[in-house]
Amino acid sequence: MHRSYSLEFVRVTEAAAIAAAKWTGKGDRHAADGAAVDAMRKVLDNVETNATVVIGEGERDEAPMLYIGEKVGSGTGHELEIAVDPLEGTNICADGGPNAIAVMAIGEKGNILHAPDTYMNKLVVGPEAAGVVDITKSAHENAVAIAKAKNMPIDELTAIVLDRPRHKELIEELRNTGVRIRLISDGDVAAGVAAVTPGTGIDVLFGIGAAPEGVITAAAVRCLGGEFQGQLRFRNDDERRRAAEMGTSTDEDKVFRAHDLASGDVMFVATGVTTGSFLKGVHFLQNNIAETQSVVMRSKTGTVRYITGRHDLNKKASFVGL
Ligand code: FBP
Repeated sequence: MHRSYSLEFVRVTEAAAIAAAKWTGKGDRHAADGAAVDAMRKVLDNVETNATVVIGEGERDEAPMLYIGEKVGSGTGHELEIAVDPLEGTNICADGGPNAIAVMAIGEKGNILHAPDTYMNKLVVGPEAAGVVDITKSAHENAVAIAKAKNMPIDELTAIVLDRPRHKELIEELRNTGVRIRLISDGDVAAGVAAVTPGTGIDVLFGIGAAPEGVITAAAVRCLGGEFQGQLRFRNDDERRRAAEMGTSTDEDKVFRAHDLASGDVMFVATGVTTGSFLKGVHFLQNNIAETQSVVMRSKTGTVRYITGRHDLNKKASFVGL
């Protein structure tokens, strides 16, 4: 995959983020998501590629745009597969909270797992603790192993966990181990990226979130280093059947690693919608100017670039639905 794609795809997440940010704090998650989807779809067609959406807004019959299997891009150029989440953290954006992002992962054809829309149990750690964790073991055992690998007392270890009733036992177990927990309302992609990014104060992500978001997080881990482990968790037989139809294993014991979800040469691109642990949110200035912060990273070189954009929305209003 040519490196020049980096900037092309940053333009895509920038547009989605600006469109969504217009809805920050307005209490309307559907409007925010719809604006991001529209903007991402429009700008994607300017990218010279023949890409297929493998993770998107849903099946063809349930999503008008960015549905699984949709062809996007100019139609000429390299064949790519993309996993998109135009607004990761729809509720966060609607509530004006931290860490909403516009995000996508890009891979060569055949390299991004076609993940079913089900749940995934996830364990994500940074490079210092790579190789010492095992999702089939207890959270207690993993926390102890991470603290030892990072040479820190267990009571200084910080885990990030989605605040959900399904995590009651996990939270109790971690608290009994002495681990500090940062509970988040939504947004486990940003949380997973924070766990592998030095200096964020997050040592590990534990818990069950959406499987498609797991694939996108795995792409970031491939670029940044660290370790990702995941196990699918089906809510019902329909989800299990759907996974089988997509050719994905339905074995809940199977441990997916970053390479199983996003293999080969992959790219991860995100733009902040609201300010969070690794990106600043969109900032609207006077005279219809918007400032964005994005990150783009590649597994091939491990280069991580933060890009600040200044956008004159008077000149590109149609891209961002204004
Ligand atoms: P949306 O942006 O689609 O609302 O997803 C946000 C999110 O918090 C993800 O980050 C996470 O993986 C998933 O939802 C958790 O699902 P649930 O809200 O059903 O627990």
